Amino acid sequence: MKLRRLLAALAVLLAVCRAQAGLAAPQAMVAAAHPLAVEAGLEVLRRGGSAVDAAIAAQMVLGVVEPQASGIGGGGFLLHYDGATHAITAYDGRETAPAGATPTMFLDSNGKPLGYFGAVASGISVGVPGALAMLELAHKEHGKLAWRDLFAPAIAAARDGFAVPPRLAAWLSRIPGLREEPGIRAVYFNADGSPRKAGERIANPDLAETMHLIADQGPDAFYRGAIAAEMADRVRGHARPGTLSLADLADYRPIKRDALCGPYRLWVVCGMPPPSSGGIATLQVLALLELFEIWRDTAGDLRSVHLIAEASRLAFADRDRYVADPAFVKVPMAGLLSPAYLAERRKLMSPNRSMGKVGPGMPPGYVERGTSHMSIVDRWGNAVSFTTTIEAPFGAQIMVRGFLLNNELTDFSPRSEADGKPIANRVEPGKRPRSSMSPTLVLDRDNRLVAALGSAGGSRIIGDTLQALVGMLDWNLSVSAAIALPRVINANGTTELEAGTSLAGLADGLRAMGHQVQVRGHEGGLTGIRRVGDGWEGGADPRRDGVARGE
Ligand code: GLY
Repeated sequence: MKLRRLLAALAVLLAVCRAQAGLAAPQAMVAAAHPLAVEAGLEVLRRGGSAVDAAIAAQMVLGVVEPQASGIGGGGFLLHYDGATHAITAYDGRETAPAGATPTMFLDSNGKPLGYFGAVASGISVGVPGALAMLELAHKEHGKLAWRDLFAPAIAAARDGFAVPPRLAAWLSRIPGLREEPGIRAVYFNADGSPRKAGERIANPDLAETMHLIADQGPDAFYRGAIAAEMADRVRGHARPGTLSLADLADYRPIKRDALCGPYRLWVVCGMPPPSSGGIATLQVLALLELFEIWRDTAGDLRSVHLIAEASRLAFADRDRYVADPAFVKVPMAGLLSPAYLAERRKLMSPNRSMGKVGPGMPPGYVERGTSHMSIVDRWGNAVSFTTTIEAPFGAQIMVRGFLLNNELTDFSPRSEADGKPIANRVEPGKRPRSSMSPTLVLDRDNRLVAALGSAGGSRIIGDTLQALVGMLDWNLSVSAAIALPRVINANGTTELEAGTSLAGLADGLRAMGHQVQVRGHEGGLTGIRRVGDGWEGGADPRRDGVARGE
């Protein structure tokens, strides 16, 4: 504790020195997956816009320069912190299964699952996009600038062109089928079918026109009329058709939910409730770790890596069994987070031996039956933690008027039953697929904002976010250092260690404790902002193209 107090005193001293040297800490900040998106967000903040206004401007630019990860053809979850009232609101813009979806749609004619890669590039995987409707709702409640004034940087980048970022270039050469889709080919490939290279300038005039319409007419220009008709036609006319209809699009509604908050040591950590599994899993892992006091260890110690993997294993067993869209499945949230239940689950953890694959627990109250993250704070102390997605890189690989349609429905379970029992996350019409997206806010016990963070990367999002939290809260690392920490992931199976980092050297030690270990690359995708003194510091994952900037 002495060391922690010393570090806290040093942070205050540093803030005072910075202020005296005229280097006051930034009072507003944007951290996102591309510098142009960050600049668009900052420009909105400079004009007096709010954190939500900045998030809309940054999202529109990401749809242009990071099209493989998110955009208006996808969905997302946004946590908003109100700097005046300290209230947190969770906005759910998750894609929804069309009315024509069936529990067997991801099975082949022999009743076998198509498999993730067999289902991604299809019309079947496309859910009703939710990002735009959700952003419109958040804007009505927290916007300061006019909706139409948030689109100019994105329209300019799409119309006048931008340099292909390294990650987009890497994905273009990694997915061979992409060039077969005429819209995608026209924007991202040369006439001979070779992918455009990092640094080359490209434009997306169709997307500029689409965003122009949405800026002028609002999201109705997207959910009704010609753009909606084209989305439905493309999905229904695909070689592997889905059922997306005009009625599905017109009926889409974003949902406001209560954020899921729980205590962790000195703080309160708040995340996204179901249909995301991110909030529950993060709070479960932190609660399981708390009594092991990993703040006494250092990042990368064998003991802390082992404990994080084991706690994640337990959380994923519960996630896979219980968490799905709460409109369809009764998720035993209070039970999954109750201290008594977690104390029972903690008994399965040993500090020096892996328990191997585990089954889900029996929480009280249980009744049988391509992604991107941005973190923003404005000068009024409002904050946004927003994870946005089209699912796989390039989504369903269907381009409509310059934007890509999501394949979010592959986040459903391909089967509807296991061991004779219905699977919580089975496909049902109008249902939202379970997510791992984990937009997170950390408060102190007086409800003052301490940090905003989140990540990209499918179910690895949970491990990413969780380890950045542990890095900041337990090991007192800067947000950049916590984001860069080498990663250990366990989704109730193999313990993955990030290749090329010091963690790879722990493989033998973990095997000796009973872990099955795989050393593999990690994509990451974290961005975060954290309070320092009277301002903010930010960070973006060095594994990707993003940055954090403040002023
Ligand atoms: N498609 C990523 C997620 O929602 O977890």
